[in-house]
Amino acid sequence: MKRNILIIGSGGREHAFVKALKRSPNLGQLYVLPGNGGMNGEATAVDLRPNDFPAIIKFCKTAAIDVVLVGPEAPLVEGIADELELEGINVFGPSKKASQLEGSKDFMKEVVWRYNVPTAEYKTFTDAGEAKKYIRIKGVPIVVKTDGLAAGKGVTVAMTVEEANRAVDEAFDGKFGDAGKKLVIEEFLDGEEISFFVISDGKNVIEFGSAQDHKRAFDGDKGPNTGGMGTYSPAPIVNDFLRKKTFEQIIIPTINGLARDGIPFKGFLFAGLMVDGHGNPKLLEYNIRMGDPETQSILTRLESDFVEIIYAAATGSLSKIKDVKFSSDSALCVVMAAKGYPEEYKKNFEIDMSEAENSAEVKAGKAMVYHAGTALSSGKLTSIGGRVLGVTGRGATLKEAFDNAYSCVAKIRTPDLFFRKDIGWRELGRGK
Ligand SMILES: Nc1ncnc2c1ncn2[C@@H]1O[C@H](COP(=O)(O)OP(=O)(O)OP(=O)(O)O)[C@@H](O)[C@H]1O
Ligand SMILES: [Mg+2]
Repeated sequence: MKRNILIIGSGGREHAFVKALKRSPNLGQLYVLPGNGGMNGEATAVDLRPNDFPAIIKFCKTAAIDVVLVGPEAPLVEGIADELELEGINVFGPSKKASQLEGSKDFMKEVVWRYNVPTAEYKTFTDAGEAKKYIRIKGVPIVVKTDGLAAGKGVTVAMTVEEANRAVDEAFDGKFGDAGKKLVIEEFLDGEEISFFVISDGKNVIEFGSAQDHKRAFDGDKGPNTGGMGTYSPAPIVNDFLRKKTFEQIIIPTINGLARDGIPFKGFLFAGLMVDGHGNPKLLEYNIRMGDPETQSILTRLESDFVEIIYAAATGSLSKIKDVKFSSDSALCVVMAAKGYPEEYKKNFEIDMSEAENSAEVKAGKAMVYHAGTALSSGKLTSIGGRVLGVTGRGATLKEAFDNAYSCVAKIRTPDLFFRKDIGWRELGRGK
């Protein structure tokens, strides 16, 4: 059965959705709202704003959309799923209430604490004096987090009391607006971080891959935090022991608990985990969407029918999908960003993709370029975002994926882009 699909979003994650959906024989018409320059020709761009719900509803009815796949968290936290479902439109994405798992760190901690999910000890504050007293008592390192969404900039891992107190003052002085009016202050967890993904229809849950990200801007994990400069998938430290513990102690208690609380979770659930030296996972945070750039390396390896998976989850029939198959290949995504990102960065410079697109590795399917911040103007590809491209290589080993990705990166000769040269260092360097 052919399904007409509308993707909401405009980044590399959404471009990866486009390419994965297009591999399905069950794909009907494919639209992306608003999309970006690199998706042109692969999906029909819809010139509407992601939070203009009435216009999106009208479009879905006119275009006979079978399911809406929502990429970013903001429209979900604003309640797009509720609005569309009221109009009888199927949505892959959680309700406004369930989106609070990411929209409010206080809500998330309260819920998972109540379900005995292993996570950092914490306390929530709206008063600076109380918060600083807690920091003094608990000592450092300690972690200060804004309650609301802050585009990955709301978390301070404080190594000194001064740093922690400064984070408290900045937030309560309004640096993050309403998002910083409430703070979650939690215990510092040591270990290795992984991103673990599942899909749920509110009752059934299936695993949807794992990956490791590189948040810092420069090689050796130096420089400011970013939205992510590269990922690889799978995350080899995710062995059966860790997978089993993560499901039993973190994912299942959360999904079942939310259903019991009358807030069934439907969509992608992204668990940010800290794995200690004994391989035990603790929950750092939940995101209610696929990660970016984790999606690029995970979907590159997807072999199952993405249309069927999305449609089954959105219509509450995920039990039909026995399991999700991924290639045994590894994939590695290198983000090429505009110089200056994550601070002030250059825009509207031309990007010459010709050599990369005609390269042997792209032709052989060993590398592909996901567009994140590009636009097409009078036939020329220009950069419009901080993170511009996600160049992804695949191979039987992580090293092969690394080589294919960087050989493609080398063919994108635009002086105004920079990238890290060490994506995958942790795994490629392990045991050396
Ligand atoms: N309790 C903790 N102990 C140690 N490090 C932590 C802790 N909590 C968060 N971090 C670090 O801070 C980063 C950001 O924290 P978190 O993931 O909770 O915030 P976020 O702003 O929602 O991030 P994202 O943009 O990835 O969704 C984590 O990736 C991790 O490196
Ligand atoms: Mg988050």
